[in-house]
Amino acid sequence: MKILPVISPKGGEGKSTFAAYLAGFLADAGLRTLLIDGDYSQPTASSIYSLNYEAPAGLYELLMQMVPEPAQAISHSSITNLDVIISNDPDEMLPTAMLHAPDGRLRLRNVLQHPAFAQYDTIIVDSKGATGVMVELTLLSATGRAMGIVKPVLPDVREFLRGSIRMLTRLQPFENYGICLPEIAILVNCIENTILDRVSLAELTAIVTNKRYDTSSLGKRDVYHLLNTRIDSLDIYKLGHVKAQPVHRLECKTNRKSPAAAETMHSLASELFPEWRIQFDALLESLGGNV
Ligand SMILES: Nc1ncnc2c1ncn2[C@@H]1O[C@H](COP(=O)(O)OP(=O)(O)O)[C@@H](O)[C@H]1O
Ligand SMILES: [Mg+2]
Repeated sequence: MKILPVISPKGGEGKSTFAAYLAGFLADAGLRTLLIDGDYSQPTASSIYSLNYEAPAGLYELLMQMVPEPAQAISHSSITNLDVIISNDPDEMLPTAMLHAPDGRLRLRNVLQHPAFAQYDTIIVDSKGATGVMVELTLLSATGRAMGIVKPVLPDVREFLRGSIRMLTRLQPFENYGICLPEIAILVNCIENTILDRVSLAELTAIVTNKRYDTSSLGKRDVYHLLNTRIDSLDIYKLGHVKAQPVHRLECKTNRKSPAAAETMHSLASELFPEWRIQFDALLESLGGNV
């Protein structure tokens, strides 16, 4: 089972959108997928698709250990193979509770070890755009890497690189218990076809590939990796919200210069989960896209 947290420095970068579209792509490729809406107070990822069954509990009860069986927090979406844990903490009780619980930062990681979750091939965990205990507990649930989403806006990118290193530094003591901190795969989203965005993207690429960030607090390891898949700013990525559908179902061919949404989602899924490339190729072919 692969658990992929999705994080970003602030709201509006596209976390919930791409957490949900990626989960929908994985599910349509035949993988048993769970989408956890970790934006505890503002459900977006879990409200993009309609639910066939809404569980009596969600993220709140799961993390507060209020359900005897974690399966009681699992809702079923209208998409075959895609289950969802809804976010249901509008009064924002979870951060304080998790901060004060001695095992707060480990609660998501620990509960996902329960047999109720062994049925899933992939678990995608959306988060709130911030740093702090709730994102830290999301990061600790990762099985290898996390995906960080940023727009090509340099002050935001620099803050993301610094903020994530601060979080990983705070989580470093968990390595003494055999927990590996995730590498962060950066997805650049919302790229406009402008000179400014091209220059920003080139600078962002240089910062990440030449490791122009300070990891001395983490023992000089590689923290970031830039994904080759890039996402343009396009209305098609808003249309999935309107139609309550994963975006690969809505556009598999295009006359634009930039790739069709289905090709972009295929490319993203293949980079993040190369072990399932055959299933992703088969899905894209069945949609009529070019592998
Ligand atoms: N590549 C894109 N092109 C156009 N609109 C986008 C793109 N990515 C995200 N959006 C839009 O930006 C808004 C914020 O996205 P969202 O996923 O809610 O961000 P976050 O979860 O990081 O706060 C949404 O209205 C979404 O449709
Ligand atoms: Mg969101």
